[in-house]
Amino acid sequence: MTGPAHSSLLHFDAEVFRSSFDRKPFGYTHDLHRLDLFSFDNLLKLAERYVPTQPDWFVAGSAPTPGTEFYSVDHGYLKPHEAMMRLEQGAHRVLLKRLENHDSAFRDLMDLLFKQIIELNGGLHGQKVVRRESAVFISSGAAITPFHFDPEINFFAQIEGEKRYHVYAPVAVSEPELERFFVRGMVDIAQIDLDGRDRSHEHVFPLVAGLGLHQPQNAPHWVETGASRSISYSIVWETDKTRADGRVRACNHYLRQAGLQPRPPGRGIDAAKAAAMSAVTPVRMATGNLLRSLRSR
Ligand SMILES: [Fe+2]
Repeated sequence: MTGPAHSSLLHFDAEVFRSSFDRKPFGYTHDLHRLDLFSFDNLLKLAERYVPTQPDWFVAGSAPTPGTEFYSVDHGYLKPHEAMMRLEQGAHRVLLKRLENHDSAFRDLMDLLFKQIIELNGGLHGQKVVRRESAVFISSGAAITPFHFDPEINFFAQIEGEKRYHVYAPVAVSEPELERFFVRGMVDIAQIDLDGRDRSHEHVFPLVAGLGLHQPQNAPHWVETGASRSISYSIVWETDKTRADGRVRACNHYLRQAGLQPRPPGRGIDAAKAAAMSAVTPVRMATGNLLRSLRSR
């Protein structure tokens, strides 16, 4: 295959997709690894073009353990193409973000895959996509990405090599943990503790070329590569609804600090909470007003 000219590159069990989308992790098969777009030579040329485009790339070493703090791992010591040329000499992880802004073939691919996924989901159900991105991960063998979650819906595909992907259902993260992340207004990499996490929510996917997995929003995960070089691809997005849920959780953080037991998103006065956290309202004043109205009920 030379390009994304095929309508169904991802292969899902429709019933599993319907029952689990954005709730539980599930596996699927794909043909992305057959595309020339993902050849190592093509990715190496792309990585050279990425050099002046930071923050669109990230190079890091391997974490010593899955419970290591995310940004405590050595990073920024090599340019992406330099790390790709040294994959056999050390434990390096290269992330090229927002591929669609750097290569039109990757934009076409992302558009095609997103269309297929959303059609299978029966549309966006009135939601608007506010961020949509694709990325490629190129890693040495025996490299570990530490435990964290990201506030985005993810379809992840293994292109080359082996990866053992440990992902927990989002219910493995407590509301106070989620609230602590969203109150900081961050958009990726939420560090949480692996120790003590309920293993009954863990799904382990032994990935090889042609296999992929769906990772719901806020599903915590850690990843280890197999013995040799690994290449993976992902497409992620957020909607206005998922962003609003984040603002509800930010508001709940303040309400919990004030001694209340706030309800999670979807069960309560979400619109008032999300509005209280909007950028145009000073947070202290907005939460103060909200607290007064809640206590007077
Ligand atoms: Fe992640």
